[in-house]
Amino acid sequence: LPVDPFDLVIFGGTGDLALRKLLPGLLRRYADGQIPDDSRIIGVARDKQSDADYRAKVGDALSRACASDEVAKAKLPAFLEKLGYHALDATKDEGWEEFASELKAHGEDRIRVFYLSTSPSLFVNLCDRLRAHGLNRGQSRVVIEKPIGHDLASAAVINDAVGSAFAESQIFRIDHYLGKETVQNLLALRFANILFEPLWNANHIDHVQITVAETVGLEKRATYYDTSGALRDMVQNHLLQLLCMVAMEPPAALQADAVRDEKLKVLRSLRPIEAEEIGQLTVRGQYRAGAVNGAAVPGYLDELGREDSRTETFVALKAEVDNWRWAGVPFYLRTGKRLPERVSEIVISFRQIPHSIFENSAGPVMGNKLVLRLQPDEGVKLWMMIKDPGPGGLRLQQVPLDMSFAEAFGVHQPEAYERLLMDVVRGNPTLFMRRDEVEAAWKWIDPILAAWESKRESPKAYTAGSWGPSAAVALVERDGRTWHEDTV
Ligand code: BG6
Repeated sequence: LPVDPFDLVIFGGTGDLALRKLLPGLLRRYADGQIPDDSRIIGVARDKQSDADYRAKVGDALSRACASDEVAKAKLPAFLEKLGYHALDATKDEGWEEFASELKAHGEDRIRVFYLSTSPSLFVNLCDRLRAHGLNRGQSRVVIEKPIGHDLASAAVINDAVGSAFAESQIFRIDHYLGKETVQNLLALRFANILFEPLWNANHIDHVQITVAETVGLEKRATYYDTSGALRDMVQNHLLQLLCMVAMEPPAALQADAVRDEKLKVLRSLRPIEAEEIGQLTVRGQYRAGAVNGAAVPGYLDELGREDSRTETFVALKAEVDNWRWAGVPFYLRTGKRLPERVSEIVISFRQIPHSIFENSAGPVMGNKLVLRLQPDEGVKLWMMIKDPGPGGLRLQQVPLDMSFAEAFGVHQPEAYERLLMDVVRGNPTLFMRRDEVEAAWKWIDPILAAWESKRESPKAYTAGSWGPSAAVALVERDGRTWHEDTV
């Protein structure tokens, strides 16, 4: 859909997220013809530099980020023309008046997006200044990134600060997992097909698994990550959002608040994990030295350069949604760094058939599974029982009906950030988190953090390149289940 020309201001315009994700995403959207020519992208950071310096720096980063994309590379020079730079300090007045006048001179009612790609500690200052200079009015929007707080109380402080400058309809809280192709396909799969929804409940679904496995370690984010850990970094946001997309009731319309109302109900129905069950329902792990994809990697503490961190780099947990649809259906979640492969998937495991007509010699009849793969190789697999082809009597076999999006459509899928940035420009908040969602998620997470803290246990060690501590396997095996392995 065409959009009106806009000004997009990236606070933290020289930072990692801007150079690795936001600007490459914008370049690809530009190459696709989605960014009107009169639009501008303005990087803001503290250092003084000229537009030309900034363009050169961004040009370098984008040539690397889009090395294999010929169309994007061809458009790079024209894209850089749209780029400007402003040196501003969120904590000082200097320069703000001029910055505001410059933006306003471009049209009071122009779409303006302020992307706060900075440390959350600057959100309050930035929002105060945007308000003081009248930049919160008209068609202004503000985008904030996680971490939105480190617990419920600190999230509320950030939300209050941003909320005092911008109305909720102007605030876009990004969870980039919601921008992934397969997540939106989950909406299509559930609500554009008659097949699944009648079975989408405790009568037919045995359990759900959500895995987000990464091969990377700390990268360059030691300071942030060590104060966060996997529960805050991944579960509070990405994994719970995926859980909501699976578990929510059908919204009445694909309209932002209708969808977010349903997700909120799921978050509020999550059964609280009590302190006394913490050891049964959750597993924390931290990687030790090992090998990932054949390369030796150091342990977490070595990477961190400290010996005393109890931060978890792996979490597995069993959640339950206490409502009619999901009563008694466990949702097993796991995520971790330095696991054997990078894979994110949602597995819906259906119940067994009620009665088998087959001889034992035909082999076991296994429950159907619907596997939604978010990355890599986005696609959907429906595991079904079929007759083993060929002579030799009736033997059963489980094989997947397999739809790989790349094979089926053969096109480059826009990255999550590309799609979400354009949604902000269009003013469509459906795939963004509302304040109450973020806070409901923290409300469920806080007691888990508190219970871990009061036990003061070290996380369980796991070797880099393994699937986490053995306790994570035990978590599902205790219930007579196993983690899904894609064998085909
Ligand atoms: C971020 C986390 O939100 O998501 C990172 O802070 C993590 O720790 C990243 O690596 C994973 O995103 P993706 O899109 O690479 O799966």
